[in-house]
Amino acid sequence: MSPYSDLAHLMKGRTISRIVCDADTIAARVRELGSEIGAAYPDGELLVLGLLKGSFVFLSDLVRVIPRPLQVDFLVASSYGNDTVSSGEVRLVYDPETRLEGKHILLVEDIIDSGRTLNRLVGLLSERHPLSLEICALLDKHLAAELRLAARFVGFDAPHEFLVGYGLDHAEDFRALPFVASLAD
Ligand code: IMP
Ligand code: MG
Repeated sequence: MSPYSDLAHLMKGRTISRIVCDADTIAARVRELGSEIGAAYPDGELLVLGLLKGSFVFLSDLVRVIPRPLQVDFLVASSYGNDTVSSGEVRLVYDPETRLEGKHILLVEDIIDSGRTLNRLVGLLSERHPLSLEICALLDKHLAAELRLAARFVGFDAPHEFLVGYGLDHAEDFRALPFVASLAD
């Protein structure tokens, strides 16, 4: 029996074609990322800036395994509607009130697809004179032709499929799944 068969109530009758990263694999990789990030910032103020909504599960696990003091804030940018294809439009809906100037900013994203969202945000955040700006993404599809700033910390290379779970949604469903899965057609 699948270890996830008790999660059928979360699937809304949809099937997933396969699990891409199971919960234990994610937990182990997140712990590694936490250590890497801790070592990368020996001093200075660190602000972990989560891109909502997709990064909320990853971010909450990640900040608890970064072994140094940090602060947390969020950004809301919306790039997709209820579609599995990017509209190409990126809107900034919520802007962090925290001062960015003089701080190390670590922007946390769930998945990098076309890279449009990050390109737009990197431009906006750089204008606020952070001490440094880096990107941490749980998943990277490696489809972005031109990233203004390459992600310094990446959890997993992602297949070129539509993924859900561990914060990632399809039309707001599936965010609570404890694993990352490919959505069947
Ligand atoms: P980009 O701007 O094309 O790089 O798209 C990034 C955003 O699109 C991510 O923050 C996700 O919210 C969403 N996204 C891209 N690919 C997927 C996917 O496979 N599943 C769920 N959301 C995705
Ligand atoms: Mg999304």
